[in-house]
Amino acid sequence: MVTYYGHLDDAYREYPEKLSALIRSLRPKRVVEIGGGANPSIPLATVAELGISEYSVLDISEAELSKAPAGYRKVVADICADQPIAGGYDFVFSRFLAEHIPNAQTFHRNIYRMLNPGGIAFHFFPHHVFVRLCIERSHPRARGASYPRAP
Ligand SMILES: C[S@@+](CC[C@H](N)C(=O)[O-])C[C@H]1O[C@@H](n2cnc3c(N)ncnc32)[C@H](O)[C@@H]1O
Repeated sequence: MVTYYGHLDDAYREYPEKLSALIRSLRPKRVVEIGGGANPSIPLATVAELGISEYSVLDISEAELSKAPAGYRKVVADICADQPIAGGYDFVFSRFLAEHIPNAQTFHRNIYRMLNPGGIAFHFFPHHVFVRLCIERSHPRARGASYPRAP
């Protein structure tokens, strides 16, 4: 596993290019974005340009998926479910999903099972220190507190 840390603003700005670069180098055919909801990360116009033959957007919320543009393959499922989720993907990724997941073990196990041999998973999410910082910044007593830098 490779973990990259960065300031959230930079990470957010650089995410589309990092994602495209990764897909260009891995050349996956079947791709699924978990928790893509109303805002899939890759515009439909870019999907074909990246050589992706099938791009699915999986989300627990049918209502969120219904807001995504028509043209995406949409899958309603809970990534933390106990029952198996259909797989066969070469690349599984998510943006701003992992921080909402109640059970990391089930999350990673399900994704591992959805991947073809040699497949890759890529997750972009705020670190818990950032989340704590946001909560504590909104609390007057926590003003001026310092936090460890991510390694
Ligand atoms: C913060 S939103 C992020 C949406 C999108 N990825 C983005 O960056 O704009 C989190 C999304 O994850 C979905 N979600 C939350 N828990 C989920 C789960 N257990 N399985 C699948 N999707 C989930 C939510 O319905 C929502 O669409």
